[in-house]
Amino acid sequence: MTKQPEKFYITTPIYYVNARPHIGHTYTTVVCDAIARRQRMLGHDTLFLTGTDEHGQKIERSAAAAGKSPQQFTDEVSGEFRTLWDRMGITYDKFIRTTSPEHKRGVQAMFTLLKERGYIYKGSWVGQYCVSDELYADDNTPGTPCPVCGRITETVEEENYFFKLSAMAEPLLKLYEENPGLIYPETRRNEVIAFVKSGLRDLSISRTTFSWGIPVPDDPAHVIYVWLDALCNYATAVGFGSPDPKDQQRYEHYWPADVHMIGKEIVRFHCVYWPAFLLAAGLPMPRQIVAHGWLLFEESKMSKSRGNIVRSETILEVLGADALRYFLFREIVFGQDGSFSFDALVQRFNSDLANGLGNLASRTLSMIQRYFGGEVPYPSATIAHTPAEAAISKLAGETITEYNRLFEAYQFSRALEALWALLSAVDKYIVETQPWAVAEKDDRDSRSRLATILYTSAEALRIISALAHPIIPDSTSKIFTQLGLSDIAKTDLNTLRWGQMNVGTRLGKIEGVFPRADKSAIERMQQMEEERKNAAEPPAIATTAAGAATAVATAPLPSAPAAAPTAAPAPVTNQITIDDFLKVELRVGTVLTAEKVEKADKLLRMTVDIGTEVRQIVAGIAKSYAPETLVGRKVVIVANLAPRKLRGIESQGMIVAASFGEEGQPALASFLEEVPNGARLK
Ligand code: MSP
Repeated sequence: MTKQPEKFYITTPIYYVNARPHIGHTYTTVVCDAIARRQRMLGHDTLFLTGTDEHGQKIERSAAAAGKSPQQFTDEVSGEFRTLWDRMGITYDKFIRTTSPEHKRGVQAMFTLLKERGYIYKGSWVGQYCVSDELYADDNTPGTPCPVCGRITETVEEENYFFKLSAMAEPLLKLYEENPGLIYPETRRNEVIAFVKSGLRDLSISRTTFSWGIPVPDDPAHVIYVWLDALCNYATAVGFGSPDPKDQQRYEHYWPADVHMIGKEIVRFHCVYWPAFLLAAGLPMPRQIVAHGWLLFEESKMSKSRGNIVRSETILEVLGADALRYFLFREIVFGQDGSFSFDALVQRFNSDLANGLGNLASRTLSMIQRYFGGEVPYPSATIAHTPAEAAISKLAGETITEYNRLFEAYQFSRALEALWALLSAVDKYIVETQPWAVAEKDDRDSRSRLATILYTSAEALRIISALAHPIIPDSTSKIFTQLGLSDIAKTDLNTLRWGQMNVGTRLGKIEGVFPRADKSAIERMQQMEEERKNAAEPPAIATTAAGAATAVATAPLPSAPAAAPTAAPAPVTNQITIDDFLKVELRVGTVLTAEKVEKADKLLRMTVDIGTEVRQIVAGIAKSYAPETLVGRKVVIVANLAPRKLRGIESQGMIVAASFGEEGQPALASFLEEVPNGARLK
């Protein structure tokens, strides 16, 4: 009998559909994608699950705010996640939606099972609840902030079904002790153990105050708590709760999951609640729960509520999916928080991809084309083989082992560092062996030497591409095709070693694998982000499109910074009616105080008298205006903009400025005449 391939089941969190996908979601998803791709290249029967979390009060409210039914709203946003994953080259095998019939049936089956086993009872409850995180606060004092997002929780009083979480503390601690590898990394494991040791209270697992959820079996006035609903997706996606024997077989085959990959903020749900439900239900435990850190932008966690998100589409359109994928693996130390910036992205892209891998590929391939008519040459085992080739093949062998070890230990950045050290060694080897000079000599030995050099480079390129493929699938596939090799994804990573390159094969068509990126790439991406933000929701700081404010503003006062060369203003598009314009309340105010915001070199915090009241305004103008030059100055404020927080400071309006020059420099709108505070611009 032939041996069945080992199964490997990996999951991402299922993402809430109240927000559109951003690079934070992409991070978790590409990490899982690379792991899944690599598992397939190891010959494992891999199942990679992702999906969307579509129930709950938060989604119900977001849908209402968008003027849509919850189903229509969730259909749209869930579709956006799938579209993005396709564009990012995400090879998920299944996409689960919590509004699907298979999932609903599975969740109800879980509820029934837990109830039958005596872990669910009905009781009444008053407590504090955070709708944003769908989380009950531990502290039941009204006004308690949410432990995750810091928003003030709401007081909820209900008759609920409860899960006997308090009874699970001991079994959970035993589970953690017996399975030291269950929670990764160690720091998260320690936090979880400390949390459980501090005592667990029973968990309310149903709600009656809204209806957008899965009804409790036989008691449809209640909907099942969204986290019980959501966590079950990992089991329902592989057939849990289905009466169909085929689904039951699928469940038996794939469950338990091998890896649940999550962000660190949802550790408690995955490492306490989910194992507690499974223990109570008598079901097998996932093998590992892996929590990574946060992707930060402008020093805080990227999230819709903070308004500091970056969309993957922007990077896709300018640099391609592999640029973002590579950056996320190479730049972020897995498990820790890491910062994203367009500058760092482009720098990494240029140094490691365009000038690194791309350059090695184009050099090697074009020389094989030129000197050997596009056929990979045979290396010489004798005369032309020198210690330099032996050193490269030895390093390649060691790199394969080291890369695999580091990848498996989730040390992706170090794994890539090791792989790129091989790449640099090959670059150096080419410089030192000077194949272009060898090609000038026409004797047999030189020809043989040239063949060896180019074979060595091509073989190293093949190995580097195969190892990097799970992380940068698109460009490495192209390199394989150009090397005249077939489907890279079918490379067997178990047996990958030096010396397997097909010799005598014809190269494919040679073309660049990475687009060029110069300074304008950064500007283009920043501009696209700005436009996306403006289209979705107005920004609370003064970085408007060129010329936007000039209809109501004069040129900057002499105290304003000197004008930079003006970038051509974009033509006026997108007509609005006078009524639309009058919705915006532009008011004159005087700056009373202005100061820099700590640790935010672009932001100033000001208080502005607008006649009827004094507003606190936070604006991104610190690079252009010293705070003391603003005090006493007349400015224009968008006075009816909903307040929003920047770096934790509430901005109660937006200051109007023209934006000009290459850097989008701001120039505050102001007047030549004396205008009283509170005067309206119309
Ligand atoms: N729906 C829940 C998860 C239920 S799983 C049974 C949820 N959804 S979410 O849309 O908020 O997604 C959270 C996850 O998205 C994080 O745990 C992480 O995997 C990813 N990320 C979202 N923003 C992120 C960053 N800024 N940085 C890193 N990962 C981020 O929670």
